[in-house]
Amino acid sequence: MDYSTKISERMWNQPDKGELEAEREKTFIDDIVQKSHIEKELLENLDGIETVFDGGAGCGRFSILLAKHGMRVTHFDISRPMIDKARELAEKEGVTDRITFVQGALEDLSAYEDRSFDMVISFDAPISYTYPHQERTISELVRIAGKRIMISVSSRLGALPYLANPIQKNQFILDKESKDSWVQWCLESREQMVADFTFRKDALMKTGETGLFCDVEETRKAYDNGEAPWSISYHFMPEELYGILDKNGVKNIQLAGPGAFARTIPNEILVKIMNDPEQKRDFLEFCHMYDSNPYVCGLGKDNLFAKGEIAERREAVK
Ligand SMILES: C[S@@+](CC[C@H](N)C(=O)[O-])C[C@H]1O[C@@H](n2cnc3c(N)ncnc32)[C@H](O)[C@@H]1O
Repeated sequence: MDYSTKISERMWNQPDKGELEAEREKTFIDDIVQKSHIEKELLENLDGIETVFDGGAGCGRFSILLAKHGMRVTHFDISRPMIDKARELAEKEGVTDRITFVQGALEDLSAYEDRSFDMVISFDAPISYTYPHQERTISELVRIAGKRIMISVSSRLGALPYLANPIQKNQFILDKESKDSWVQWCLESREQMVADFTFRKDALMKTGETGLFCDVEETRKAYDNGEAPWSISYHFMPEELYGILDKNGVKNIQLAGPGAFARTIPNEILVKIMNDPEQKRDFLEFCHMYDSNPYVCGLGKDNLFAKGEIAERREAVK
């Protein structure tokens, strides 16, 4: 097993991971926008789809949704706590009979034959955590897809502004009274992060070139010291992601940048919109339209979304 897999496994195996991920949309507005974009895409593209492979399915945000819409879903994830949480939520929704839970790493999909599933999905960056195998992982996901593929990966252009804005998550806090530990950490450390901040053009330039936001060697050392560092995550450029899908024979490729519109709006306004159901519905619909414009796709908040069709008879990979 290579380093990236081991690091991802340790990080996502932390006991409270499933619980925390399942709460994201209750606490952060950017997560509401991102998941809403994906949900709309999924529900509008279910024609001819009966079976789905969800790679890095987490606590079941989309596998359970699709099972509720009658799909048979393979919920595949590296982390036991995430799968346990997903199973608990699937039981509550009464859909466990339509979901097969599989613990495994996206780096090895050899158990699945070509075109095993009508649709293959993988959202909120599991592919990025397979670095340095991210390109092969996409190729494998395309291989096991019969009709359609939808993925979202870490976005380089979208994430670079973080390096000049350590308090970016504060903009998206839905409820400042929330007990969520991340919300409280964002609020408590705001002033310190501003005080400690220096604009470092060299760091931005380097990350812009490599697509890596961490030092790979430092992360490996932390792992070897028994820590659970953040996974090494590869951030894609839009044309790069398009090119990989195209090379693997995917047709009608469309990219989007969920969160591009919302990131222009201050917290007070976002909270106001979210607290009015009618405005919230209209806002999320508008975000979907704006964020689907190819000219803004790179600036999606932290994910670059892509969807495409698998050709009837897949052409040989160029
Ligand atoms: C941010 S969560 C996204 C969950 C879900 N797809 C969603 O959109 O809500 C990322 C998930 O990817 C899983 N993951 C990370 N690296 C993986 C790998 N190499 N193979 C399979 N799953 C992985 C994690 O365990 C975690 O559940």
